[in-house]
Order: sequence, then structure tokens, then C-alpha cells
Amino acid sequence: MTVIATTEVASPYPIVTEVELPEVADLVRRSHEQQWQPLADIPWHTFDDVEINDEVRAAAATFWSLRAWMEHGAVPYGAERLRQAIAEHRPYEVKAHLVNFIREETRHFEASYLVAERFGGFQPGPTESYFEAIIPRFHDEREEQELSFYANLFLNTLFESLSGDLLQDRYRNAVVPAIKEVNKLILADEGRHIRFGKILMQHKLDDITDLERRSIESKFEAKLRTSLLRGVYAVTNLPDDMQQVAGQARRLTAQHGLGATDPDDEPTILRNALRRLRREVAPLDIRLPHFPEIGDHPDDTTTPGPPPGDRR
Ligand SMILES: [Fe+2]
Ligand SMILES: [Fe+2]
Repeated sequence: MTVIATTEVASPYPIVTEVELPEVADLVRRSHEQQWQPLADIPWHTFDDVEINDEVRAAAATFWSLRAWMEHGAVPYGAERLRQAIAEHRPYEVKAHLVNFIREETRHFEASYLVAERFGGFQPGPTESYFEAIIPRFHDEREEQELSFYANLFLNTLFESLSGDLLQDRYRNAVVPAIKEVNKLILADEGRHIRFGKILMQHKLDDITDLERRSIESKFEAKLRTSLLRGVYAVTNLPDDMQQVAGQARRLTAQHGLGATDPDDEPTILRNALRRLRREVAPLDIRLPHFPEIGDHPDDTTTPGPPPGDRR
């Protein structure tokens, strides 16, 4: 058997057991209380009543495969942060949160994969050219390591906050009970992930340098503009012909109540989420850029609405 030498493993000692962030310890406790299992806790039999044609079925399989890829992308990201937390002797509750984060993103993947399978086939990886250019490089660890530990986690929760608002709409949109339950359970987990970022905002701001704040702003802009708005969160930044193809799969999935957002609604949802986030992080001296491609203009001073979930 060939043994391949990998990177050196940092010493985990000394282990920090003194609780530094009690609110994170509380998140860890809540995560244990709110465990769920995709195979056991979703009413999968409700798919038996779904009557859709082959075109809609294929569209839903494509959309849910994308959802599964994105959830899976969070797993290696979390694993790298956990490794970093151990090497940097971060508090135990932060490591415990990251362990839960990895487990939760893994079950989000599993649930999304199972939905795609119900629609006739999970696609193990992208085949469309616009996705092939984005998905495999979605988690680029070299990019991640340009930020310090807490700055990186902070940036990640900005993205989780945007995707949380999309998920609220996808929960509302779903009519198949199994899909509604998948989105509801994922939302509950994501709520804790977003809460983690807010705790870091309150307690770890001094660890983030001015230079890093500028870096958070530019990395946020680059990832949203060149990746997430190109077929992941919305299709606005794809070339016209690809917008049609990518948008149609989401539109059909949304129109049949199968848990997607309509491409025509996504810019509005994201614009509102951005305006809310922009206000939240402004006191931290982080100025999120504007995205005119989704109607997010600097001269718009109206008060942003609440997250979609709070409207119901
Ligand atoms: Fe997730
Ligand atoms: Fe998450």
C-alpha cells in the first residue's frame, strides 16, 4: 500500500477549555437539541402525489443538484476552518460550533441530493459550461487563507445571510410537504450559522484590521459579482443566452412549488438582503459595495424590509 505524505499536522496543545464566547457555547447546545436526519425526518412519501411532466422533473433535478453542490461546498470550507481553529488554539466552543457546522452542511447536502434523486437524478457535478467555470472553484482555499480566522468566518456569514433570505422564499414557495420540511430544517440550521457571524461581529471586531475590512469588502464584491450572481443565487450576471437556460430551470421549479426561487424575484430578495446587511455592518466600518445589476443603487435610501421570514 502506498502511503502519501500530506501536510504537517499542527499540535492541538494546549487546548483552550475556558469558555470565551458563551453565546457560541449556547449555539452548540441548541445545535445538539435540534438534530435531524434527512432519511428519517422528512416525509418522503409525499413525493408519491407529485404529478409533473418530464420537463419540470428535469428542471427540478437540475435545481436541486445545484443546491446539493452548494451545500457540499460548505463542507470542505468548514473542515479547513476547523483545522485552522485547532492549529490556532481557538476556544473549544468555536471548534464545537465548526464541527456542528460541518455536520449540518453535510446533512443539507444529503437532503438536497435525496430531493434531486426523487426528481429522477442527482447530477454529481456541473455539465453546463457556465457552472463548470464556477462551481469547482467555488471554495478556493488560497483565497480563504488571505484573511485571518475570524475575518474569514465573518465574510462567510455575510454570504450565508444572503442565501438565508433566498431560502426563506424557497420555503414559502414549496407546496410538496417533503420539500417544505427540507427547507424548514435547513433554515433552522442556517439561522444558527448566521447567528454565529453576528456574535463574532460583536466580540471579535478588534481582531480584524482596517486592511482586512477592505479585503472583506473586495472579496465580498468579487464573489457575489463573478460567481454567486452567475447562476448560483441569481442568473443576472450570466450572458443572455445562458440566463435563459439557467433561469428556465429555476422558473419551472418555482412555478410548480418545488422549492426554488423564481429568477424574476431573486434580484429583489437579494437587493433587500443587501440593504439590510449594509446597514448592519456599517457601524463596523465595513462598507458593502452596490450591485446595480440587481437594482441595488447607491442613491436608494429607503428603509430595507425585514427578512422574508419576518414578513409572514
Ligand atoms: Fe447549508
Ligand atoms: Fe450554513
